[in-house]
Amino acid sequence: MKKILALVLALVMCIGCASAFADKVGVSMPTKDLQRWVQDGENMEKELKDAGFEVELQYASNDVPTQLNQVETMIDNGCNVIVISAIEGSSLGTALAKAKEKGVKVIAYDRLLMDSDAVDYYATFDNYMVGTVQGTYVKEQLDLDNAAGPFYMEITAGDPGDNNARYFYQGAIDVLKPYMDAGKIVVRSGQIEFDQVATPTWKTDVAQKRADDILTGYYANGEQLDVWLCSNDSTALGVTNALDNYTGEGWPIITGQDCDIANTKNMIAGKQAMSVFKDTRTLAAQVVKMIKQILAGEEVEVNDTETYNNNVITVPSYLCAPVFADANNYKELLVDSGYYTEDQLK
Ligand code: BGC
Repeated sequence: MKKILALVLALVMCIGCASAFADKVGVSMPTKDLQRWVQDGENMEKELKDAGFEVELQYASNDVPTQLNQVETMIDNGCNVIVISAIEGSSLGTALAKAKEKGVKVIAYDRLLMDSDAVDYYATFDNYMVGTVQGTYVKEQLDLDNAAGPFYMEITAGDPGDNNARYFYQGAIDVLKPYMDAGKIVVRSGQIEFDQVATPTWKTDVAQKRADDILTGYYANGEQLDVWLCSNDSTALGVTNALDNYTGEGWPIITGQDCDIANTKNMIAGKQAMSVFKDTRTLAAQVVKMIKQILAGEEVEVNDTETYNNNVITVPSYLCAPVFADANNYKELLVDSGYYTEDQLK
């Protein structure tokens, strides 16, 4: 009996010890305002806990000092690895330097951390490809190689503080530029350059306000508008809201990215033409794999060592593949795969 008791005691102590020494991972997400980050955070937390890690998950309310503070606290709390999706890629320098000094590994999550040598890895979706998928969709829908045009397009891009935003924009523009140069696509507002079409913090109401102004300024008499190229779903939502006041014929093609619930509903209702699905479960799984490899001292799997230079170093990256989504394939992509329930999309 005594022996059994001693054994049980030893076992309990052992489990206690193991959890006290479990590796700890910090996860710093930009905001809870946009659906995708809530999903990213939850997926990361679940995957990491399932893998036996302790997790410290924080959202920073899109406030840079808050995120800086949260990351520093994660370092102080003994996190071994910190996964960061930055609000502003270049604003976390001091925290990153502190992580490096303490031997804490840093993985940039979805958005690259800029201007620092203290970034060990980057895991994301192929950002340029997201733009290419959007641009190619527009090209094919308008049959730009054969149709005479001109077609009329406006552009809404993302946050200048987010390194991804320029990749999305450039990927789409590289496909469409030849047709713009040839006059087949006309941007009535003349607002084409990234800085003219950007949306600070990706906010829906900011995108809506700019779209309202463009519609009032250039389309008030029902002028033809065929496409509104939007870099993601939060901005597409703002543009779609603004377009409720559009008096021209038909409804323009609106592009997006993320397959947020509101936007997927708009796709089903015919108000948004397409989105780009970035399965956050895939990204979370890849990051957990990276963390395990880092902590086991193994070689970390990456598939791109050239593209993502952060102004100081080129960060070894793993790029997941984004997938085209529209009203025809959303069921298979989003419902059958268990990403959303049918009810969530009603
Ligand atoms: C992400 C997009 C997202 C956007 C706004 C980007 O960094 O890659 O998926 O739509 O931020 O949150």
